[in-house]
Amino acid sequence: MKNILHLKSSIQGATSYSVKLGHAIIEEIQEKYLNSTVEELNLVDIEIPHLKPEVLRTFFIPNDQLTEEEKKSILLSDHLVKQLFAADIIVIGAPLINFTIHSALKAWIDHITRAGITFGYGENGPIGKVTGKKVYVAMSSGGVYSEGPGKANDFVAPYLKAFLGFLGMTDLTVFRAEGLKVPGVKDYAFEKAIKSIKID
Ligand SMILES: Cc1cc2nc3c(=O)[nH]c(=O)nc-3n(C[C@H](O)[C@H](O)[C@H](O)COP(=O)(O)O)c2cc1C
Repeated sequence: MKNILHLKSSIQGATSYSVKLGHAIIEEIQEKYLNSTVEELNLVDIEIPHLKPEVLRTFFIPNDQLTEEEKKSILLSDHLVKQLFAADIIVIGAPLINFTIHSALKAWIDHITRAGITFGYGENGPIGKVTGKKVYVAMSSGGVYSEGPGKANDFVAPYLKAFLGFLGMTDLTVFRAEGLKVPGVKDYAFEKAIKSIKID
């Protein structure tokens, strides 16, 4: 049995491919690990503030010196960090928006990146503290980025691998529903993504 955290960041509602792909990944995880629990977090629906001076301050200033507004922001960050640590497996829906991740997913990353909590520095450089997790990324994109001419612009998978690895989440697998808007590819792109799912 595993605790699964499912992050969603689609802006296309019920038709979202990254959400459908995420659900298909979770089904396979649940087949492998019976009675696993799933916590859903729709990042587009919740208000995660952009990092601003008054938000950043909350990460470093003692709680009793914060304004009420600042306290709200640190409470959210603390909650997101706790939720992340409680998960064994994280499924991240990552639709491509203007060559990168949606800003709601970036805001989540900004709020779970906490010096001394989710990462630190040792004698040999940075140390990720979010360890022992398995991460599956459910990517979706109009174009094809895993191969061909689009590969030069394949930013999302390398970014998530590098940054989540920095935080200690080094075991990451990406499944892609790609070419969803490319004639000749779009008709089988999603089916291909579903078939590629392999839970290790
Ligand atoms: C605002 C916006 C920007 C997009 N930018 C890109 C892009 O840069 N590259 C790409 O391949 N697809 C792009 N797309 C297409 C989406 O990646 C595609 O519709 C995908 O299915 C989105 O995931 P979802 O279905 O989970 O929402 C964009 C779509 C929207 C709505």
